[in-house]
Amino acid sequence: MKRTTLITLKTLTWIACLSVAGRLVWGMVTNDLGPDPSAAIAFATGKATIWLLAISLAITPLRRLSPRLNWLIKFRRLFGLFAFFYATLHMLTYVALYSGFSVAAMESDIAKRRFITMGVAAYLLLVPLALTSTTWAIRKLGGKNWNRLHKLVYAAAICGVIHYWWQVKTGVITPLTITLVLAVLLLARPVTAWLQRRKARAAVTA
Ligand code: HEM
Repeated sequence: MKRTTLITLKTLTWIACLSVAGRLVWGMVTNDLGPDPSAAIAFATGKATIWLLAISLAITPLRRLSPRLNWLIKFRRLFGLFAFFYATLHMLTYVALYSGFSVAAMESDIAKRRFITMGVAAYLLLVPLALTSTTWAIRKLGGKNWNRLHKLVYAAAICGVIHYWWQVKTGVITPLTITLVLAVLLLARPVTAWLQRRKARAAVTA
């Protein structure tokens, strides 16, 4: 891929990823976040986190399907870090706007409300991934260990989806789309790995 195309695509990715935060800031400035601004911020940042995680998870299976898509790897870290950025904003929304910085309220929520417990678990799983996202950390850990550690992203996505289901009201099925997307992505990984191995074997035989 040409350098100019890559730079253009990266710029567009940054704009798209930042647009969620931009819309929220604009909504705050113009006082246009609806009747419950805290919920509007929690919903937007929560959804951005889970969808960005799904996009970053889609990159490996897509690359395995076609070598022409190898360039996508240049975007995986960006999507993963934006997912962490929104997860952090989401967590801070809870700490500041839902709990009013009260440690006692947070402790009680984590102990008593299972959807909060699951959200915290999802967030904690993302922390080591963000901390080891630098080239320096990859070199220090070694590729194999780094890959093993970064499988935690699947656990984080699963916890995120459970957290999503547990916070919606009974009968609401809005988390269905992201659940199906993540299920396909989780299955795609072993399937595309198998297809890749089969292709390699066929090439050797030929
Ligand atoms: C410290 C960790 C977390 C806490 C305390 C937390 C808390 C919350 C709260 C309070 C809500 C809004 C519930 C309501 O007002 O009814 C929410 C919604 C949500 N959270 Fe989290 N969360 C956390 C981590 C995460 C993570 C890591 C993800 C994604 C992987 C996530 C995804 C979502 C989604 C998708 C929604 C619902 C959005 C919607 O209904 O439109 N959360 N969370």
